Amino acid sequence: IMERTFSIIKPDGVKRNLIGKILSKMESADLKIVSTKMIHMSRREAEQFYSVHSARPFFGELCDYMTSGPVVVSVLEGKNAVVAYRELMGATDPAKAAKGTIRAEFGLSIGENTVHGSDSLENAAIEVAYFFSGTELVNAAK
Ligand code: CMP
Repeated sequence: IMERTFSIIKPDGVKRNLIGKILSKMESADLKIVSTKMIHMSRREAEQFYSVHSARPFFGELCDYMTSGPVVVSVLEGKNAVVAYRELMGATDPAKAAKGTIRAEFGLSIGENTVHGSDSLENAAIEVAYFFSGTELVNAAK
């Protein structure tokens, strides 16, 4: 089934000039870039985006980090896109990520793990709608 998922290239990825390499890996994995843009999240935006983690001990650090510099948010479309992109990213901890995944190749630590991807189709829809308006989704497959 065709799905859409939501991706963030986190501040460590943008800072190290990895945007092109990461977008290229998405395209090579047959994920179509429906929309993409660079943003610098406000504190409020980060706190709301990560609100499911608000009770976790790393919540403050996570929001500090995600607002520390620009990020690239994207909408990806493809067959089973949610799972396909999670497989391409690899495990949250780069040290545990499978060889060839984005986090294995580029991730620095559990926090600075270079990319975010939606964990379910339901959250993907919420996350896409949080950062993109309908008219920004301009490269959908027909
Ligand atoms: P992400 O997929 O963006 O969603 C939540 C993030 O919390 C996760 O990636 C990690 O980068 C971040 N995080 C920071 N510290 C931890 C931790 N100790 N355990 C799990 N996730 C963490």
